[in-house]
Amino acid sequence: MYDKFYKKFNYSGEELEKLKDVLNQDFILSEKITNTAYEFPKGYGYTTLGINHIPLLLSKIKAAAPCINQLIEENIFLAEYFYGKKILSYKISRIFCNKFFKGCVVSKHKHGSIENNPLLVLALYIYSESDSGNLILHTEEQDIVIPLSPGDLVVHPGYIPHSVSEYKGNIPRLGLIYEYSLKFD
Ligand SMILES: [Fe+2]
Repeated sequence: MYDKFYKKFNYSGEELEKLKDVLNQDFILSEKITNTAYEFPKGYGYTTLGINHIPLLLSKIKAAAPCINQLIEENIFLAEYFYGKKILSYKISRIFCNKFFKGCVVSKHKHGSIENNPLLVLALYIYSESDSGNLILHTEEQDIVIPLSPGDLVVHPGYIPHSVSEYKGNIPRLGLIYEYSLKFD
């Protein structure tokens, strides 16, 4: 699905399963490297947001699922479409995993700003029960409701406020979020 505010497509490769195992074992289930996030006002979830683990996490992903990192790199160019400018350079600013349990809500928030801190968010839903909660982009014109299924990659500019509705699945949702900072021509 393609929209001026986001792109969503589905990755159904076998690496997704491997990545799910690695993230569950090495990250989300380890109390040493998980936090609870203020963005989860209701329900229960874990995040590795705020933990400085970019090289470690990238190397884990590269080992388990090299196609995923490649998929992410290939889609950074979408920032040119969303922002209407040519990219001069980019670099990863944050990467983190989220694990949401049934009842968890992610409150409305945004990443960076359109002028001073342009960012691109690429959210890979490694696992999410179908029809069990949506990502919502709150644009000035309308709320765009994006249903989530396993393997969905949603790419959107960080400045658009977004939230995630209450998760109704029984098996926890697992997400991997890449955030890139951008410099334009
Ligand atoms: Fe976000």
